[in-house]
Amino acid sequence: MAGRRFEGRTALVTGAAAGIGRATAKRLASDGVVTDVDGEGGEETLALLENEGGNSEFRELDVTDAGGFEECVEEVAAERGLDALVNNAGIGHETAAVEETDRSTLDRVIDVNCKGVWNGCRAALPIMKAQESGVIVNVASLAGLIGLPKQAAYSLTKGAVVNFTRTVAVEAGPYGVRANAVCPGFIETALGEAFFEGRDDPEKARARMEAQYPLKRLGRPEEVADAIAYLASDEASYVTGHGLVLDGGYSIA
Ligand code: NAI
Repeated sequence: MAGRRFEGRTALVTGAAAGIGRATAKRLASDGVVTDVDGEGGEETLALLENEGGNSEFRELDVTDAGGFEECVEEVAAERGLDALVNNAGIGHETAAVEETDRSTLDRVIDVNCKGVWNGCRAALPIMKAQESGVIVNVASLAGLIGLPKQAAYSLTKGAVVNFTRTVAVEAGPYGVRANAVCPGFIETALGEAFFEGRDDPEKARARMEAQYPLKRLGRPEEVADAIAYLASDEASYVTGHGLVLDGGYSIA
């Protein structure tokens, strides 16, 4: 399964200790690189990959560390080659309107969600341009495309990721390098669950949320991983600068 579209190629996935990143690593990185700031979770992901065979490795990486990201990408490219970079690591925040969001929350969310993606692209692009191949997939969000109340800082960063991806695609296209984003709706991960935990009645809040989706359920990390695998594969060889929405129909209802 993991290598179906990606056999023999190396993908580096950030934030791969859990959730969407872990599912993506399982899907893509059977011969690739699992990274995360969470060493324990990263090793768990690696163990899952090793169970399925393959020759992957785990590297501890905080995406906000520009120098560390550059070093990691350069080492991976030199040792294994670098065919795909999935900038998945991201964080949410407590629900808060614009005027209720404190400066430190805003800074932290921008650091991880925006600068983390920037750092990854900044590190990978010179290598991919020089080799005249490679693909970047950035994990944005539906929150980057539509207005979501009390997700102000998060939506600011995810909207930025969607448009930054277009710019990267335009700059890198002439070198044979593609860049796309995925824009998932609500996905069942720790980050998703945290959204309900803050509510008075989490079960009711969850049921209300599910009811708003035409498919009447929330998404699964594996469904996002499949979309990322598509965008990273040659099957998407003419797709670049795109923001692929995976939201069970939420945004068109
Ligand atoms: P998660 O919380 O389950 O996993 C996020 C992973 O990123 C964790 O392993 C965490 O350790 C890692 N991480 C956090 N900060 C990091 C840093 N500075 N450097 C490296 N790794 C770091 O979250 P989930 O849901 O899997 O989210 C993955 C991506 O998908 C994020 O960018 C998120 O914004 C996005 N997303 C999630 C949705 C959801 O409903 N779960 C919906 C739309 C987008």
